[in-house]
Amino acid sequence: MPSLHDATRGRILFGGDYNPEQWPEEVWEQDVRLMQDAGVNSATVGVFSWARIEPRPGAREFGWLDRLADLLHAHGIGMVLATPTASPPPWMGARHPDTLPRDEDGRTVWWGSRQQFCPSSATYRAYAAAVTEDLAARYAGHPALTMWHVNNEYCTSCWCDGTARHFRRWLAARYGTVDALNEAWGTAFWSQRYDTWDEVIPPRRAQYLRNPAQQLDFRRFTSDALLECYTAERDIVARHAPRVPVTTNFMPFWTGQDAWAWAREEDVVSVDVYPDPKDPYGGQYNAMIGDMTRSQARGPWMVMEQAAGPVNWRDVNHPKPAGLNRLLSLQSVARGADAVCYFQWRQSRQGAEKFHSGMVPHAGEESRTFREVKRIGAELSRLAPEVSGAGVAAEVAVLHDWHSWWAVQQEGMPSREVAYPDVVRAWHRALWENGYATDFAHPEHGLSGYRMVVVPQLYLLSDAAVAGLVAYVAGGGTLVSGFLTGVADPDDRVRPGGMDARLRRLFGIRVLHEWWPLDRGERVACDGFDGTLWSEELEAAGDAEVAAAYRGGELDGLPAVLRRGRAWYVSTLPEPAALRALLARAAGEAGVRPVLEGLPELVEAVRRGGLLFVLNHGRKPVRVPLPAAGGGVYRDVLTGAAVAGSVELERYGAVVLREAAP
Ligand code: GAL
Repeated sequence: MPSLHDATRGRILFGGDYNPEQWPEEVWEQDVRLMQDAGVNSATVGVFSWARIEPRPGAREFGWLDRLADLLHAHGIGMVLATPTASPPPWMGARHPDTLPRDEDGRTVWWGSRQQFCPSSATYRAYAAAVTEDLAARYAGHPALTMWHVNNEYCTSCWCDGTARHFRRWLAARYGTVDALNEAWGTAFWSQRYDTWDEVIPPRRAQYLRNPAQQLDFRRFTSDALLECYTAERDIVARHAPRVPVTTNFMPFWTGQDAWAWAREEDVVSVDVYPDPKDPYGGQYNAMIGDMTRSQARGPWMVMEQAAGPVNWRDVNHPKPAGLNRLLSLQSVARGADAVCYFQWRQSRQGAEKFHSGMVPHAGEESRTFREVKRIGAELSRLAPEVSGAGVAAEVAVLHDWHSWWAVQQEGMPSREVAYPDVVRAWHRALWENGYATDFAHPEHGLSGYRMVVVPQLYLLSDAAVAGLVAYVAGGGTLVSGFLTGVADPDDRVRPGGMDARLRRLFGIRVLHEWWPLDRGERVACDGFDGTLWSEELEAAGDAEVAAAYRGGELDGLPAVLRRGRAWYVSTLPEPAALRALLARAAGEAGVRPVLEGLPELVEAVRRGGLLFVLNHGRKPVRVPLPAAGGGVYRDVLTGAAVAGSVELERYGAVVLREAAP
């Protein structure tokens, strides 16, 4: 199977989405000159070029793409060639309304933006396959081609009649009989029993709360339907160019795709990541997405898109202060990325993203943004021989599963204030601030390689996952779990006792009496800290230790944090410093060590291969002490300078160090 290495060949890919169809061809010449200037070695082309390639049904206009591919090649720039299928041309919707998605209310989602396709539409799929076939046949042998990029951020969903038929086929394959579906969906409730398959529909607009198991299955189905679209195109391009790796770019921590399942179908796992420059913990967010993507890739991965400056889809879109683009780029490399790319090369003058930054912004090549881009390009080429292909070893794993996310984020839950991604982020932030090297893992993956496993929240757990957690602790692992974990089985059926009995035994919970969710902003006092979001009325088993109790309020004196041996249960979301301290205690006992001890706040250290990355996410300069191990002398890989004792990092500064040979 091809891999990212087949595209990098020991380099770090640097470049971005390039949409030359938006520009006259004179500009292309300037583009490739500037790309060379900036050390760009990769351009992703064709992402939204369907109407240009196929201006009317069945027509093919490849001349411009031929000239472009040749031009890139002549300048030593590799081409990540996209299938254009994320944005069907207007003619498709106009002639074939069955290709257009319908929302939950049955309203049509029209053309005029992008991604207006129904993943179940046979017509859409046929046109997508045909254009992919011709594109692949034409460019499979082109010397510029380094990678295939299928579609873009698969994120549509549809509730139309064609989707309903497809959904029924998917359900029939999963359950076999309507009776089994009725059982799994709990349709005895509210007279929802289905008599025949034909009565089953996607969860459309309804009078009141909809069936949660139906909604969960529809999420699963939608992810699978999109995945079928991906694999169909992947198989076409791979047939034409079996040695060229294939990817599709994920949105970061996006709810619509089970990325564990998708990653298995990709040669290269790539992601689009856009931390808010104003967020003081933007570095943690970038780290989390990096950890997640590396774990999906099980090796080097690709930043397919990031922004050189502001995006244009937040309420207020902040530019990146000087140094931040470089910092986040090096941070991704530290976490295992072998490709650092952007949306997009040249900022558009027209269209919906004309105020979204580019590597070459409206201000042009004299801009601060482009100067920083050039610096990053030069540094990545210096870094590549030292780091490309190297792995990142982690002692801690965060468990995450899309199915559980889908199940917990439904109507009719005890609290609407619990947002799964925020809970995961809070836990990852605590680990990040403690400086541990952290992976993400699926709850059914092998966990024995980790000293500590944390479960921010896994509401839905299969029997296999529960057994895996129990076995992990029995095998000497340390497990720290947050609230609302182990509540439901894969059909979203509540486990007897309100939480899986094996997990209750593991954590030392005798009875889980009630959940006491908290209002927005409400806090509950616990020994030494405040809890937020949630609390629980728990009764500890005789052999459990109460690590912290609730103080005051309805739960006064009852356990807030329980442990039984190496298994911890945290029944609230402790405020950040407290979660940090709690995880430091559990990690310390488990023998987990930070990458570097004693770092100033917002300074991060990451080891990749033999390199030590030291990254200052703070807005003030800092001096960072360096460990004296191995003589305490380091070589700054980016400047060649010798470094000893400590290193000074400017605001958003970053250094990459190698221990100097004695
Ligand atoms: C991504 C997308 C790009 C561009 C970018 C803007 O979602 O793949 O095409 O729209 O966002 O931030």
